[in-house]
Formats: sequence, C-alpha cells, structure tokens
Amino acid sequence: MTIRTGAVAAFICLSGNLFAQKKTEYNLEFNPQHYQTQTLTLDGKTFKVRAFEKIVYVKNPVDTSRQIMNIYIPETYYEGGAVNGYTAETAPIFFPNQIGGYMPAKPATTGNNPMGGMPLMANRPQGTSDGGVMGAGKKQSAVVVAMSKGYVVASAGARGRTTNTGKAPAAIVDLKAAIRYLKFNDQKMPGDAQKIISNGTSAGGAMSSLLGANGDNSDYEPYLSALGAAPASDEIFGVSAYCPITNLDHADMAYEWQFNGINTYQNRRFGPDATNSPTQNTLSEQQIKVSSELKTLFPAYLNSLKLKDKTGKVLTLDPSGNGNFKELIKSYVIASAQKALNQGTDLTKQIWLKIDNGKVTDIDFAAYLNYMERQKTPPAFDALDVSTPENQLFGTSQIDKQHFTDFGVKNSTVAGATKANQLEIKMMNPMNYIGASATKTAAHWRIRHGSKDKDTGLAISVILGTYLLNNGKDVNLELPWDKPHSGDYDLDELFTWADSICK
Ligand code: DHB
Repeated sequence: MTIRTGAVAAFICLSGNLFAQKKTEYNLEFNPQHYQTQTLTLDGKTFKVRAFEKIVYVKNPVDTSRQIMNIYIPETYYEGGAVNGYTAETAPIFFPNQIGGYMPAKPATTGNNPMGGMPLMANRPQGTSDGGVMGAGKKQSAVVVAMSKGYVVASAGARGRTTNTGKAPAAIVDLKAAIRYLKFNDQKMPGDAQKIISNGTSAGGAMSSLLGANGDNSDYEPYLSALGAAPASDEIFGVSAYCPITNLDHADMAYEWQFNGINTYQNRRFGPDATNSPTQNTLSEQQIKVSSELKTLFPAYLNSLKLKDKTGKVLTLDPSGNGNFKELIKSYVIASAQKALNQGTDLTKQIWLKIDNGKVTDIDFAAYLNYMERQKTPPAFDALDVSTPENQLFGTSQIDKQHFTDFGVKNSTVAGATKANQLEIKMMNPMNYIGASATKTAAHWRIRHGSKDKDTGLAISVILGTYLLNNGKDVNLELPWDKPHSGDYDLDELFTWADSICK
C-alpha cells in the first residue's frame, strides 16, 4: 500500500516537471541591451545600426523558428541625432515581411533581400519563402534603404501553409502579435509605434493588406491570446502591398472575368520543379467550361460591393462582364502607359495602345490581355483537385488541403474533399474588415500591381483600392508598366510615399 502511494506521488511529480518544461514563457519586455552593432553600406555611405535579432514576440510560441522578429535601429538615434528629419521619437517603423507563396517565412535581415524586383516563387527554395538565392546581392535591400532614410525596421517571421500549425489564419495572427509587441514596447525603443508601415509582396502583399485592414478586430483575439500576444493594439498606420494575392474567395471569378477566351497559358510551377522557363499549354474542354462558369459569377460579386468611382458614380458590370468597372481598370492601365511614355519608354510595339501626340488615349483591352498571356488554369486558386498553395493554406492541422469556395466544393474532383471553416476564410480576406465596426483599418495605402502580372486578376487590386477609397482611406494605386509579379522594385518612390504620410 505504502509503495503504491509512493509510485503515484512520483508519477504526479514527473508529469508536473514535464508540464513545467513545456510551458516556458517568453518575456515580452524589449531588452535594450541585447544587440549587436552592424555596419552597413549603401551607395558608398556607411552607417551603424543596432541589430536586435530573433526576439520571440509571443509569450507562448508554437514555432520559435518563425515567431521571431528582427529589429534594426540606426545608431544615430542613440546619439540624439536625426536622419532625414526623423528623431528617436518620430522615426516611423518600417515592417517588411518575407512571406511568399503562403509559405513559412523568417524575418528579414540586413543581408538578404528576397523580393528584390525579381519574378517570385520560381526561385524560392521548397518549403520556405525565406528568400534564399533570389535577390541576394542583386538589388538594394528594402531593409537597408529604409534605415538610410531614417526608418526603424522591424521584420517578423510567420508560420506558413507547409506545417500543420501554419494553416490559415496562422500567418496573420503572427504578424498581428508582432505589431502588439512593438506597441507594447514603444517607450523602450527608438521609433514611433503609432507610425508602423507594413510592406510585403504577393502572399506577403496580401498579408500586409490584411494587417492594415483588420486592426484590433475581435475575430483574431482568441488566437492572439492563445499565443500570449502582448496586451496592446495591433492597428497600423500604413500599408505597402505589391501584387497582393488576396480576396482569395473571389479571385477565381476575377481571373476568368479577365482571361476567359484565352485558352493557352504559360505555366510557372511551384515547388521543387519550379522553373523560370514556363511551358506553353492549352486548356482542356472541361477547363474552358469552368472558365466560362466562373466568369459569369463575377459581375454579381462586383455589383454587390457597390463600389463608386471618384465622382461618386456606382461601378457595375453587366451579365456579359462589360461596364464602367472595366473602364476603370482600363484607365489604370492607360495611366500606367502614360507614365512610362513620359519617362521615355518606347511603346511603339504595343500597337494595342492608342497614342495621339504623346497622350495615351485608349487601349484595346482584349489585345492587351493577349499580350499579357494567361498563366493559371481555372479555377486559378481553389483548384478542383486541391493542388494550389491556397488549397494548402486553407487546410487544418489534420487535413492538408481543402477547398475554400462553394464552386470548388461543388465541382471538386477529389472524393471527400472538404471546405475550410467559414470564419477562417473570412479572416484571410481584408475586404471583410474594411469599414467593419470595432475595427481599425490603416489610414494610408500604397498598392502596386504590375501591368504584366498575371498571378492574380487586375480586378483584385483595383477592387481593394476602390473599396478603401470609398471607405475614406488615402489610397495610392498604380499598375506599374510591364512589371511582372514582383515587389520592392521602386524603393525610392516607396519611401517618398512613406515620408509623405509620416511628415
Ligand atoms: C504567390 C504567387 C501566387 O501565384 C500565388 O497563387 C500565391 C502566392 C507568391 O509569389 O507569393
């Protein structure tokens, strides 16, 4: 009897220890002593920064290889100096993420620059979007350029679709937690946490947009408290989004509204067989049918948004997909061509542009789309065989890949394929939070989608920008001329914009 009691006691003691070991809590107080000095060079000028790297930004992380943040602070701010008119009190915080392909991402460093103006995905190593070979050494780093212009830089890693803790909405929860850490520690470090400007490209641009849209919305609260996020707001001040692969639950119809009728495509593949030499393919009869069905769904969605142009006129599409919303998209392409022309670009080969006396007056939209070429097969995002990165994003810890649209479930070619939880689908789409009650959407937005970027439809960025404008936000939206799917290619312009909203 005595022995048995002892055994039970020992067992309780052992399990108590195991429990204690598992539950290490991380300290969320910023430690100003914990840094290394780095000397950086840009355009022949040298400057010093304090590098606070790999800070775990939640009390109870589930992945300490991703839920970490790097913070870089110009040394000048510790000497009472100013850079570009900013001081330790007023310096904005530039918050770039490295998320691509909805993969797990590490925080940016002063050494790498994965988004550096290169076509995305194909060069990314499998299982990560951490950059790897892509931009290293080839382009200026947004991190270094930001600091040269007086910005404090904070970059957070985030979980992604290839791990079972990284499915939606993990990455946005992580970025929000990192913002809370910065706000919680605002008094302990140089930089103004009221002036956080997020930056990202593609899936990272989508996450940047989502972060800007859903500040302090209660949908995310249970996830944030489970991680032990710092008790602070996660509202941000500005959003920079390059080619956001967003509004995923309506992106299939937007893609077919744009590309229906173009039945050849240049495929760029994800994963280990990723390549920069796309293969030329033709849609099957079945895919052509799916394209037409999806195209037909788009006008009802677009009309439901009740978007307005700058004069207050409602933007619509008729059942065949024509209307003033299409004209609005054309106007953005025309403005893009005009800017290129003004900068001396030779546009004589683009015979689908009508140019009179140095003025771009019209565009043959169908011919432009032929020039652009289709890249994805219908449905572009919620694939009927659940084979896309987005299908994996919307998986669960138990089910790797799921549908996330009714169309996908209804037409699925995979027996027993399931649809993601409606709340999680909602939580990944910024459109659901702009103008929502008890939600703090960023005031300032800069959105760029290259005029030759076919990873998602042009309508996606134009809808986002217009919806923001209609909700009283300050929006700077352009479709830079001939740019493919890429980001960070215009850093001077980016920081001119950032200065204009901060100063
Ligand atoms: C990315 C590109 C895509 O085409 C996509 O569907 C998702 C993500 C990217 O480059 O991040």
